Amino acid sequence: MPTLPKFPAGFLWGASAAAFQTEGAARADGKGPSGWDAFAARGRIKDGADTDRATGFYERYAEDVGLLAGLGADAFRFSISWPRVVPDGRGPVNAAGLDFYDRLVDELCARGVAPAPTLYHWDTPLALEDAGGWLNRDTAFRFAEYVGVVAERLADRVPMWITINEPAEVTLLGYAIDVHAPGKRLFFDALPAAHHQLLAHGLAVGALRAAGAGGIGVALSHSQVLPAADTEADRAAAELYDTLTNWMFSDPILTGTHPDGALAARLPGPVADDLATIAAPLDWYGVNYYAPMLVGAPGTRSANGRSGFGGVEVPAELPFVLHDIDGVEHTAFGWPVVPDGLRNALVGLADRYGDRLPPIHITENGCSYEGLDDQRRIAYLDGHLRALHRAITEGVDVRGYFTWSLTDNIEWAEGTRQRFGLVHVDYDTLARTPKASYHWYRDVIAAQHAE
Ligand code: BGC
Repeated sequence: MPTLPKFPAGFLWGASAAAFQTEGAARADGKGPSGWDAFAARGRIKDGADTDRATGFYERYAEDVGLLAGLGADAFRFSISWPRVVPDGRGPVNAAGLDFYDRLVDELCARGVAPAPTLYHWDTPLALEDAGGWLNRDTAFRFAEYVGVVAERLADRVPMWITINEPAEVTLLGYAIDVHAPGKRLFFDALPAAHHQLLAHGLAVGALRAAGAGGIGVALSHSQVLPAADTEADRAAAELYDTLTNWMFSDPILTGTHPDGALAARLPGPVADDLATIAAPLDWYGVNYYAPMLVGAPGTRSANGRSGFGGVEVPAELPFVLHDIDGVEHTAFGWPVVPDGLRNALVGLADRYGDRLPPIHITENGCSYEGLDDQRRIAYLDGHLRALHRAITEGVDVRGYFTWSLTDNIEWAEGTRQRFGLVHVDYDTLARTPKASYHWYRDVIAAQHAE
């Protein structure tokens, strides 16, 4: 494969992971249960994967940090499990849980890898979930308390923070259509979950700043949304989907406004006051990108007959359906591979927000494929890095790239069936084996770091 073009000096090269997907040790050290632990216990993980053990990161973190160092990675995006730090979501802090992240941060620093923790990657403490989770305004305030505790402990060594990850997916998959925890099927009544996550983000920015933390960002998914056909019905469906998954989250954070008055009217108040909190200035803005979305009106079907996005069927109660994208490669998950969609998403953000858009980091990008000789993953990453470079050349200020993921891990409701790692995990022995993509990425980073 030809060498990648040179990225700007100081560009950050990293990899990402999340607590529920990797840590295991679900019952160790005083950790409380999360909504995802309960979802797994209800048999909702497709292959019955052992999520209590996951990849065993809790015990093997030093080995994984060694793999990051071997890559030459500048930074590691991991997440902190809220119920490991505050087992009941409110009240006493679990000192042993906080100590784990202290050790992890020290290990990363010792190996020259900058720690970039996400404070919420979907594992809500079960006690809070049972009290309504993100439907309950109180959850946002409990989150800010926990963030303050973590920041007091780690801010001296952490240069880069992510408040929350993909609130759109939590709202849609978790609260609207019952694909993820907590397994609710509320359709448009899920909207308060969006608002309260945004409020939690804004409050968390305040808690981080109060503790002296800097380098504060967020990780939002941004897909380019396209109408399936050039019809009025498909254009309207795509526009609504675009609002619901992209702009309803980024507009409040970046502009303190809401993109759609009718949707805003369904949010619990005081929305106007909350927007001022939600729009707290950020140091950078994180974009997770996997694929564009092709959206049609209810009742329409993909040209190739396949519906949904990697099998996600949108229930008939919602006024849009997801179409497959024909004529392009698909990952093992069935997700279409469209590298230029990343460039389009970034250029779209720059056009929409102009000077209000902080410098961007790509906080996730990757794909699910089988095998150790994962040439298709290499092709995916290569294509997306080239598209990213084009976006930078076209003027979008992107400062870093975190691939998803360092190792194979629990792919949420899909369990261990989808493998996104640069490093293979044998789920019987938990042995790690670098794949061809690991060696490729190491060479990319080395070439980019060279003068
Ligand atoms: C999430 C990750 C997930 C990845 C692949 C993102 O939605 O943040 O946790 O594993 O995509 O599905």
